[in-house]
Amino acid sequence: MLTANDFIPKVYSQTIESGSFQWSAPSNIALVKYWGKKDNQIPANPSVSFTLNNCKTITKLVFAKKEKQDIFSFDLLFEGKPKEDFKPKILKFLERIEIYLPFLKEYHFTIDTENTFPHSSGIASSASGMAALAMNLMSLEKALNPEMTEAYFYQKASLLARLGSGSACRSVKGQVVVWGNQANIEGSSDLYGVEFPNAIHDNFNNFQDTILLVDKGEKQVSSTVGHDLMHAHPYAERRFEQAHENLDKLNAIFESGNLDEFIKVVESEALTLHAMMMTSMPYFILMKPNTLQIINAIWKFRSATKIPVCFTLDAGANVHVLYPENVSEKVLQFIKDELVGFCQNGQYLCDEIGSGAIKLA
Ligand code: PMV
Repeated sequence: MLTANDFIPKVYSQTIESGSFQWSAPSNIALVKYWGKKDNQIPANPSVSFTLNNCKTITKLVFAKKEKQDIFSFDLLFEGKPKEDFKPKILKFLERIEIYLPFLKEYHFTIDTENTFPHSSGIASSASGMAALAMNLMSLEKALNPEMTEAYFYQKASLLARLGSGSACRSVKGQVVVWGNQANIEGSSDLYGVEFPNAIHDNFNNFQDTILLVDKGEKQVSSTVGHDLMHAHPYAERRFEQAHENLDKLNAIFESGNLDEFIKVVESEALTLHAMMMTSMPYFILMKPNTLQIINAIWKFRSATKIPVCFTLDAGANVHVLYPENVSEKVLQFIKDELVGFCQNGQYLCDEIGSGAIKLA
């Protein structure tokens, strides 16, 4: 089993003066949720997610060797314009990963980033954003050390992304990604995400995720604060065990293709995440009235039609509607007829399972 020290490089065989790379990295939606962490972004429990396809961040990294090599130096552009308020988070990220990429202070970087989803849609861009940046930095390390294997490249990219934002480590490679040690999932690790290694039934091919934008406002609770609330939480330990149990159940469900069982685990995980926030101190309700309206409408539609559609939630009010591709037409019609009215400005985003980060240049 690899340890974090295995990702600290020794000497590089190449030197590089300047250049650029560009990567896209997608968002992901957790089925078993990560909520609660230990030091160094080690998750309190394992999680599993579907990688998305359309909601992504595209980041170009331009680099050039500089004279003074004692501080980090970078410019940050968002949609082509300087964005000062993103810089502290990036600086903190560079500080955290310097031990793994000791060349960082040798270069001046220009980080030019944009998202394919609307700004302030309430969709967190931290997972896709940190993953896209980690991919670019790994391309630079690979240029300095061309002997690096592909397995190391992706594992380390995920490890770096994790240090930027935990869930970002699930946005690197694979359609279904597990992050966190789980006894019977071979290769699973707290340090990085891995492609789900076991059989996946055809029912999950091209699984659809339509994201209903219920509330596009600023997050009421940052995920940093949220994870922290699990520390003195009365139900935390039992919750962490439950995540292991649910991941075991999903392991079997992915193989059997049993969508009724899938729905039970996924909806229970979403409501448990919110229950944890309602029962922490301080406590939060992150759902909005329209979140509940949507959930109830989905339950009514499912019970009337027997169509296997379900929901999941992030740490916010938006609803991810999950369903197999072969019922897309009916579910989209239902969304248009009955759910759009609960979305802010009628907005929703159609996405589906994708396979991870892509090198663009
Ligand atoms: O990656 P973070 O620290 O923003 O945490 C994300 C937590 C959830 O989105 C609520 C759950 C998850 O596993 O993605």
